[in-house]
Amino acid sequence: MQSALLAPSLAAAYAPYFRIGAAVSRRNLSDPDAAMLIARHFSSLTAENDMKPEHLLHREKTLMQGSDTMPALDFSPAIPFLDFAREHGIAMRFHTLVWHNQTPRWFFARDWSDREDAPLLAPDQMLQRLTNYIAAVMHYVNTNYPGLVYAWDVVNEAIDPGQGHCDAFRTKSLWYQIFGPDYLTEAFRAARACQAEGQQLFYNDYDTARPEKKKAVLRLLQRLQAEHLVDGMGMQGHLQMHALDIPSCAQAAQAYASLGLHVQITELDLHCTTADPDALIRQADAYRELFRTCLQLRREGCPLDAITFWCLTDGDTWLRAFRKEGSYPLLFAEDKTCKPAFYAVLHAMEDTAAQSQYPMA
Ligand code: GLA
Repeated sequence: MQSALLAPSLAAAYAPYFRIGAAVSRRNLSDPDAAMLIARHFSSLTAENDMKPEHLLHREKTLMQGSDTMPALDFSPAIPFLDFAREHGIAMRFHTLVWHNQTPRWFFARDWSDREDAPLLAPDQMLQRLTNYIAAVMHYVNTNYPGLVYAWDVVNEAIDPGQGHCDAFRTKSLWYQIFGPDYLTEAFRAARACQAEGQQLFYNDYDTARPEKKKAVLRLLQRLQAEHLVDGMGMQGHLQMHALDIPSCAQAAQAYASLGLHVQITELDLHCTTADPDALIRQADAYRELFRTCLQLRREGCPLDAITFWCLTDGDTWLRAFRKEGSYPLLFAEDKTCKPAFYAVLHAMEDTAAQSQYPMA
């Protein structure tokens, strides 16, 4: 199979339509071949983990500062991504400012206590921590890397219809427990205040094409839209071969766009349990169908402007650890060769027969 380092650039092929992104790790950036692969094929970069609150918040420095509401930040985990993107002229999606997950409990606790049972902070003080955190991150990035970030995931995964709450908010989130749903509005207000020209503010979530979730997300977005606080909807897109429903994804994208929002697929992978050649061809066909649908949405005027793959090669995917079974969800194999799915996506805009165009050897 052809090395991904020699194959035609995906980013260049899709430049007339939308950005093609990858969420990558620090390990990817320090592997010269992986770094070349990123620079060749992608026009948008996301840090898989290193820009999440648990990586940027620094408890010892926070305690030393002596403020109840101003957390200290350490940007060293984020800097390699920002430097890499700037050096290679790749725009960045910042993921993520506010999330219930991968945010240390001490950030929500009185006196920044790291005891498991430490009392939670009062809402007014938590609001200051939230605002200070968002302002500090956005100020640092926008001052030191002006023009680099084009999209901010302001809030990730706040809706969970499975939890039975009437508005379908994720009630187990510490953000919710302290504030109720107002934390979302406050987060977007804080981000709006710090946003640089040309940047868009996103709400990001999974399962966003499922009817109940879609309904709740649309309700949330309408509320944010009433105050002009949100610019885009991030549909994560962790998809599975056996449950793929591309028409529902397209309908959901149109529903979000109908609110006047940009739409991006922010975390795309297509879980496939084997690397059996037939399975990889079926996966390629599914990817091709998905990208053809996205191109069609563009033609119909839907502002779908970026598609980001979650991880770089099958060897990097989070799904292997998560599913505890084989997973081959991406366009590149572990050895950085192009899978049939790569060619399917590369040629999705051409109206040719599916299988014959995937070079297998
Ligand atoms: C969610 C999050 C991402 C990442 C993936 C799995 O979708 O938004 O940050 O953690 O799960 O890796």
